[in-house]
Amino acid sequence: MQDKIEQLKSKLAQAFADIHSSESLFQTKMKYLGKTGEISELMKGMRDIPKEERPEAGKIINALRAWAEEKFADLDRTLKEIELNKQYKKEAVDVTLPGNRQPSGAYHPNTLVRRELISIFSGMGFTVFEGPEIETDYYNFTALNTPKDHPARDMQDTFYITDDLLLRTQTSAGQIRVMEKCKPPIKILSPGKVYRSDDDATHSPMFSQMEGLVVDKGITLCDLKGMLDEFARKIFGEGVKTRLRPSYFPFTEPSVEVDVSCFECGGKGCRLCKGTGWIEVLGAGMVNRHVLEGCGVDPEEYSGFAFGMGIERIAMLKYGINNMKLLFEGDVRFLKQFKG
Ligand code: PHE
Repeated sequence: MQDKIEQLKSKLAQAFADIHSSESLFQTKMKYLGKTGEISELMKGMRDIPKEERPEAGKIINALRAWAEEKFADLDRTLKEIELNKQYKKEAVDVTLPGNRQPSGAYHPNTLVRRELISIFSGMGFTVFEGPEIETDYYNFTALNTPKDHPARDMQDTFYITDDLLLRTQTSAGQIRVMEKCKPPIKILSPGKVYRSDDDATHSPMFSQMEGLVVDKGITLCDLKGMLDEFARKIFGEGVKTRLRPSYFPFTEPSVEVDVSCFECGGKGCRLCKGTGWIEVLGAGMVNRHVLEGCGVDPEEYSGFAFGMGIERIAMLKYGINNMKLLFEGDVRFLKQFKG
């Protein structure tokens, strides 16, 4: 009996050494301690031992069983710990790793300028009206005192769709739509895309304009000038100089052109400002009485002023952009530099 026990013990010692997982521990435990396991069988074999030797044999077998159970329990604890640590390691998150950076977008300079203009002018009481991009010849030209064969039509190279339909060349078309619909006092701002067959470093076949129209009793050129000064200070800063030049538009009388000092050369004269030191930013004037009359507004009772500016041109001035193409190419390296 003693021999058998010793044999079993060394077999068990070998078996313990071979256990490397909870799974194999369970299998081995069943093999020795299970109902039909080797130690259990040893217990059953007590029947064949002479009665007087049984208590002693029982003691030895029980001691073996206790020893084995303790060993299994120890191993179980060790293995569980190892396996748990392995799992922890696998599931570990390194909170010190840098995150996945989400590049943040930026507003297009045109959007920034349009919003800024709207904000400046709505501060002066203007509301926004948006007209259609496909216009009739009437709204774009005739009602603006520019009938067919009027020489001023040559000022803008027009994309015609039919004889009567065209891509609007100016947001001024919106002036007529507003005056037809609303009675004075009128104070509207009309942003939008316009189209002209024109293409170089400072012109694009599609660009954006911002139109303004004020109609009320007693409006004079002084009101226009005061408002333009305020606008120029707000959009370009205190240091930027402006000047008004007499000009011509069929729908305003008198008409003026507003220039700002060149941002590239500071007014000394360079290629961008064509050596003049000034860059034209907008056209304006007092609404021509023919235009008022055509819209059913009595020019004896009311007067008004209108202005129109290129949004791209303002953006170029404001951000020092020297080629208009940059505003249409959509190059992210350029666009991401603008934060609203
Ligand atoms: N519509 C003119 C243009 O596109 C600008 C303008 C608007 C001039 C309003 C006078 C009054 O050039």
